[in-house]
Amino acid sequence: MSITQEAVLKALSYVEEPDLGKDLVTLNMIEDVQIDGQKVSFTVILTTPACPLKDLIRNACVRAIQTMVDKDAEVTVNMTSRVTTMRQNRDILPGVKNIVAIASGKGGVGKSTVTANLAVALARSGAKVGIVDADISGPSMPVMFGVEDARPHVFQTPDGRNLIEPIERFGVKIMSIGFLAPAESAIVWRGPMASSALKQFITEVDWGELDYLLLDMPPGTSDIHLTMVQTVPVTGAVIVTTPQKVALADAQKGLQMFRQPQINVPVLGVIENMAWFTPAELPENKYYIFGQGGGHELARKHDVPLLGEIPLVQGIRENGDAGIPVVLQSTSAVAPAFEQLAENLAQQVSIRNNIAPRTQVVEVK
Ligand SMILES: Nc1ncnc2c1ncn2[C@@H]1O[C@H](COP(=O)(O)OP(=O)(O)OP(=O)(O)O)[C@@H](O)[C@H]1O
Ligand SMILES: [Mg+2]
Repeated sequence: MSITQEAVLKALSYVEEPDLGKDLVTLNMIEDVQIDGQKVSFTVILTTPACPLKDLIRNACVRAIQTMVDKDAEVTVNMTSRVTTMRQNRDILPGVKNIVAIASGKGGVGKSTVTANLAVALARSGAKVGIVDADISGPSMPVMFGVEDARPHVFQTPDGRNLIEPIERFGVKIMSIGFLAPAESAIVWRGPMASSALKQFITEVDWGELDYLLLDMPPGTSDIHLTMVQTVPVTGAVIVTTPQKVALADAQKGLQMFRQPQINVPVLGVIENMAWFTPAELPENKYYIFGQGGGHELARKHDVPLLGEIPLVQGIRENGDAGIPVVLQSTSAVAPAFEQLAENLAQQVSIRNNIAPRTQVVEVK
């Protein structure tokens, strides 16, 4: 009996996308089914190129066809992706699908380091990625990407608006106040000025099409945080913490800020940074300098996933200072930890887009 398209789709309707809890056919994830004798091929459209379940889904598809349609079928599963979004109103940042705030309570816990590495890892997986350095009094992105001297170009659109061209490095589009003012000049921003500068930065930039725009937030729970959620519809926030008690207490405040009813930005997960120290000469040893398991505990208490644990490694700091995010260093033992983190974050964004209410800009009365 010859294989039919109906039989193939029927079989694939028994394959579930484990994160989204629905089958691939219902989720419109199957395209381009081709049949030639016993050769069957089709394309699975994943919700992110950084999908950690790629292999699992591929194997489940092959198994479904071979058990339900023809045990001798030669199955080719092509994988591509179309990043999902929950955005409705596209007046602002029309080409940007997902906006993710990387925040903490306490300063110096590694938000900027995590943002830079996550962005590069997502871009390397095939996603279109941008970063807004929202830390306008202490921008880090120009140094972390080695583009301190870059000066963005401003151009006029046909309708007469001025737009800033973001700086592109390692496949990531970056905008930072550091590109507009020399690093040594301390700009003292007053609250409202800071907010309006930041707004300009986000909305008057030619971001083009982006799957993920990461916001590197300043420490704490400031006006700037409020400006951000009022300016753009934030898909979700990620909280970075170290396992240290004081950092955790502040991280909890940060987390609760996003969850306040008038802000209501979903928290996509917690990242524990500086989780342990491993000296290069004793790679098996782990020293829990800042305590152990704090990130787990925070995640558990607030019922959000722990997206990853990043150890304290000299190379992370060195690479940050040298302007080459460590995830680009294939010899580094921590590069895979950042790649895994990127997959876990992309997965949470997909899940959020599948279940949560649509993203809105926060209105504060
Ligand atoms: N896992 C790590 N291992 C080693 N060094 C790290 C690690 N994470 C961050 N660092 C270093 O710690 C310092 C602070 O990190 P970073 O600037 O990313 O923190 P931050 O939370 O963005 O700080 P701020 O609150 O000032 O914005 C930097 O020098 C960075 O290179
Ligand atoms: Mg920072």
